[in-house]
Amino acid sequence: MNIVLGISGSVAAYKTPELVRQLRKRGAEVQIVMTASAEEFVTETSLQAVSGRPIRSNLWDKEAEASMSHIELARWADRVVIAPATAEIMARLASGAASDLLTTLCLATEAPIAIAPAMNHVMWSNAAVQSNRDTLIERGIRVLGPGEGDQACGETGAGRMLEPEDIAVLVLDDATTASLLSGKTVVVTAGPTREPIDPVRYISNRSSGKMGYAIAAAAAEQGARAVLISGPTTLPDPAGVEMIYVQTGEEMHRAAQSLVNETDIFIAAAAVADYRPAKVPDHKIKKSQTDGLQIDLVPSTDVLASVAAFVDGPFTVGFAAETENLRQYALDKMERKGLDMIIANEVGDGRGFDQDDNTVQVFWSGGEQAFGPTDKVQLGRDLVELVADRFDQSCDDSTQPELSILRFPKDTA
Ligand code: CTP
Repeated sequence: MNIVLGISGSVAAYKTPELVRQLRKRGAEVQIVMTASAEEFVTETSLQAVSGRPIRSNLWDKEAEASMSHIELARWADRVVIAPATAEIMARLASGAASDLLTTLCLATEAPIAIAPAMNHVMWSNAAVQSNRDTLIERGIRVLGPGEGDQACGETGAGRMLEPEDIAVLVLDDATTASLLSGKTVVVTAGPTREPIDPVRYISNRSSGKMGYAIAAAAAEQGARAVLISGPTTLPDPAGVEMIYVQTGEEMHRAAQSLVNETDIFIAAAAVADYRPAKVPDHKIKKSQTDGLQIDLVPSTDVLASVAAFVDGPFTVGFAAETENLRQYALDKMERKGLDMIIANEVGDGRGFDQDDNTVQVFWSGGEQAFGPTDKVQLGRDLVELVADRFDQSCDDSTQPELSILRFPKDTA
């Protein structure tokens, strides 16, 4: 596997010798192409030592071009990875510029391109950067991360380059398996929700989030832009997945609605609390002020059903956690919520919740398939393959024109 590793000028460039090491450890040949500003953050000498190849940076370097021209280099690459990718290089890629060796090579290659953005979190959320990201994804460029956390500027937020090992795994996994979901956006909900009773107490459930996290990771491995809307869990962020953290079912609902126009596949693995307290006082409820306690509960919005209710909306997949009558309850739920697929599993007696393994039965119109018992990571991969297959089938079957860019809830359409 020949990889061209493009390095642009972000402080995260200091991690690139480790990225080269991780790629080479997995058998890849790595040719580094640096932008002029990358040289401010990492030295050619150290990169040449770890990659074992002379560094390329100048489009007009006669000697280097004589040994392998930029066009030959573009053909040599099985993958192009730009890590770190700055806002500047993203803008140049989105505009189709060919202003230096790296951008020229990206235009001239037929190899899949992935970028691992790294920048200050305010820059990352800037509308221009987000629009460039969307353009790149639409053109099939894979955007890995960025992750959340402490930044070199001393602030915290989304914009950290993913760790070198995660980038290496994502790039090489993508090369060894088919990219079933390349160019697609998969939104997954996971974990429990917390519905406040007062500022210190809440209603919740035993969901660990493991199944949803495994599905989001598997979707990213298959080349999707994977977005995980997660209730509170103790799990680490899956590599290559965009995270949206929420607490309550209403926050989960708003996050899912805000993404619905860009979602191709929506998979609801969250255990959303079915009810929430009707009124939440802004002070702690004191025992001394109550003689017994009654809490009025109102039903939560059904996140999945509200996404499934969009005209020409995403392909929707739900879970049905049942203690009895698995098949009947699951099929009823699929019909009632207007879903394309439902993944049913038995819970209770130590099954399903907060376990590493799971056994499921998947139903769709005209078919069903059983999986497991198997660990949730492998199950996530198997389920994503099946969902991708059924999604493709539904696109083939669809007689709708491909123009439904904006979606409307069915009752207002
Ligand atoms: N779900 C959701 N929002 C809710 C409730 C459920 O998105 N407020 C989704 C779950 O993520 C799951 C599916 O709907 O994919 C079914 O959830 P489940 O709790 O099994 O079913 P309910 O609709 O809550 O019905 P019941 O509790 O009566 O079985």
